[in-house]
Amino acid sequence: MLVTQSQHSLGSFLDVLLYVSAAAIAAAGYYLCAQCWRAFGPSKSKRTKEEYQKVYNEIAGRLGEDYDYDDGSYGPILVRLAWHASGTYDTKTGTGGSNGATMRFGPESGHGANAGLEIARNFLEPVKGIYLKVLLYTFWSQDADSVTCKQPANFHVAKFPWITYADLWILGGVAAIQEMEGPIVPFRPGRQDRDSTFCPPDGRLPDASEGSQHLRHVFNRMGFNDQEIVALSGAHSLGRCHADRLGFEGPWTYTPAYVSNQYYNMLTVEMWKVRKWDGPRQFQGSTSQTLMMLPTDLALVEDEKMRPWVEKYADDESLFFHDFSNVLLKLFELGVPFEEGTERWTFTPTKVQKS
Ligand code: HEM
Repeated sequence: MLVTQSQHSLGSFLDVLLYVSAAAIAAAGYYLCAQCWRAFGPSKSKRTKEEYQKVYNEIAGRLGEDYDYDDGSYGPILVRLAWHASGTYDTKTGTGGSNGATMRFGPESGHGANAGLEIARNFLEPVKGIYLKVLLYTFWSQDADSVTCKQPANFHVAKFPWITYADLWILGGVAAIQEMEGPIVPFRPGRQDRDSTFCPPDGRLPDASEGSQHLRHVFNRMGFNDQEIVALSGAHSLGRCHADRLGFEGPWTYTPAYVSNQYYNMLTVEMWKVRKWDGPRQFQGSTSQTLMMLPTDLALVEDEKMRPWVEKYADDESLFFHDFSNVLLKLFELGVPFEEGTERWTFTPTKVQKS
C-alpha cells in the first residue's frame, strides 16, 4: 500500500502529540503526588518553620474573628487545652504529656478536669481542614416560581492536614499566649498522635479545692519546683471559671483576654473572703466583688516558700514574662521524644507582622 507524504506527516504529528500528552499526564501526576505528599505526608522535622508560621497565622486569624465568645477571646481556653494535654506527664513512668493528643478519646476527654475543653478542640479542628458550606438547590416542580433552596451542606476540605493534633494543640497554646500580648514562647515540632491505649489515668491534673502540698505533689510529679508552680499559675491572669464546667465561677483579673501579672497583684493586695453561695468553696474579692480565687490560688500566698515568688512577679511583670515563657516551654515539651537536632522556633505575633 502506498503511503502518501501527507499521511506520513499526520502520523508523525500524532506520535508527537501522543508523547507530549503522555509527558503532560506524567508531569501532572507527579505534581499531584507531590502536592498530596506535602499535604498528607508525615509531619515532624520535614516541615519548615515557614509552614508552621502559616499554621500559627491561621490560628491567630481565627482568634481575631471570634470576639463574641466569653470575654472576647478563645485564647484562654486554648491555653487550658495545651496545659491539660501536657500536665498529665509523670516523670517516673514517662507516661502522659502532650505527645499523643490522647484527649481526643474517652476516657480522657471525659475526665472531670477536662470539662469544656471540647470547645478548644473544636475551635482548632478547622485549622487541620476547613469546612465549606455549599448551597444545594432543588427544583421541586416545573413551575419556575417554586424553586426551593435546601439547607447548606458542609464539605470538609484539607487545610493543614499534615500537622498532628498533638503539635496543633500546643501551637494553639503558644499562639494564644503570644496573640494575647504575652511573652514569646518557643515551639519545637515533633509530637505524634497516638491511640486511646495511651490515655493517662484520671486524677493527674490538680484539684482546685486543695492546698499547696497537693500542688507540690502534682507538679513535682511533672518535674516542677515551687518557683515554677507559681510562674505556671500566672496563666490564671487569663480566662475564667464556668459554673457549668467544674462548678467554680468568675474571672481572676479585670483583663482576662490579656496576659499580665495582674493575677499576682490581686493575690497580694486584695482581701479575699469565702464566697457565700451554693457552689464549691472559692474566694471573692472584698473590693473587686466580681473577681475570684480558687483555694489553690490562695495557697500560693499562704505557703511561705511560694509567697516570695508571688510578690516578685507582682512587682516585676518582665520577670514574670521571662519565667512564664521558660516554664511553659518546659511544660509543653514534657515527655515528647523529639528527633535529635529538632530546632526550637519562635513565631512572630501577627501584630508585629503587620507593623
Ligand atoms: C495550679 C493548679 C491549677 C488548678 C487547680 C487549676 C484549675 C482551674 C479551674 C478550676 C479552671 C476553670 C475551668 C472552667 O470552669 O472553665 C481553670 C481555668 C483555666 N486554667 Fe487553670 N488550674 C491550674 C493551673 C493552671 C495552669 C498551670 C495553667 C496554664 C499554664 C492554667 C490555665 C488556665 C486557663 C487559661 C484557664 C481559663 C480557661 C477559660 O477561660 O476557659 N491553669 N483552671
